[in-house]
Amino acid sequence: MRELGLTPFWRKKQGRTPTTVDTKIHDSNESDSQHLDRTKRILHLDWPQLKAEVENCHACPLSQARLHTVFGVGDEQADWLFIGEGPGAREDEIGEPFVGQAGKLLDSMLAAVQLKRGSNVYITNIVKCRPPNNRNPECNEAEQCRPYLERQIALIKPKLIIALGKVAAQNLLTTNDSISNLRGRLHSYLGTPLIVTYHPAYLLRSLMDKSKAWEDLCFAKATMESLAITANPSLKI
Ligand code: URA
Repeated sequence: MRELGLTPFWRKKQGRTPTTVDTKIHDSNESDSQHLDRTKRILHLDWPQLKAEVENCHACPLSQARLHTVFGVGDEQADWLFIGEGPGAREDEIGEPFVGQAGKLLDSMLAAVQLKRGSNVYITNIVKCRPPNNRNPECNEAEQCRPYLERQIALIKPKLIIALGKVAAQNLLTTNDSISNLRGRLHSYLGTPLIVTYHPAYLLRSLMDKSKAWEDLCFAKATMESLAITANPSLKI
């Protein structure tokens, strides 16, 4: 908690104006059957094949300006999966997610609930290449990357997914709902429980919402504990 630089206090949810998520499915140059074939093929890859596939991906225009693909980092059998929106400049340079200022805050958020990057935690993004000028990924870009994320999730089999920020949450949950509406509830992504919290980059600008992020982390921690108890009732005191 102290690492996060916040004191927990409970505030009423505030409404926010939802943004529009384009529901276009995929690149217009690619036929439906090509998209389906590519998706099916990716959903059978093992870790090394999946990493190589992402490294060589040119499925959307984001590949043209990237320095590195940013696949993901951490424990490949983690219970906790954190998903951001897409790499920024620093991540593009290094090829690892959340290594800039937002990444430092994410590490502090993890430490606040006794978690650590790489240890029972995996971190990745909706898109694996940097959107120019740190804009939000476009719908087609997210759609082309979706099979990679789905395969990562299938291989990791996390117990709980944390969607970091509006872009991740709206893409994963296929909704235009505001983050304030999505927080504080247990969702599901392809059968895996999912909790929404603020993006660390947003929290760096909006100190008031750090307390809400703390609530989300406590909710996530309690959810993980109850998932563990459900899986192994003998853990109950
Ligand atoms: N923001 C993200 O959403 N992901 C990163 O990897 C870095 C910043």
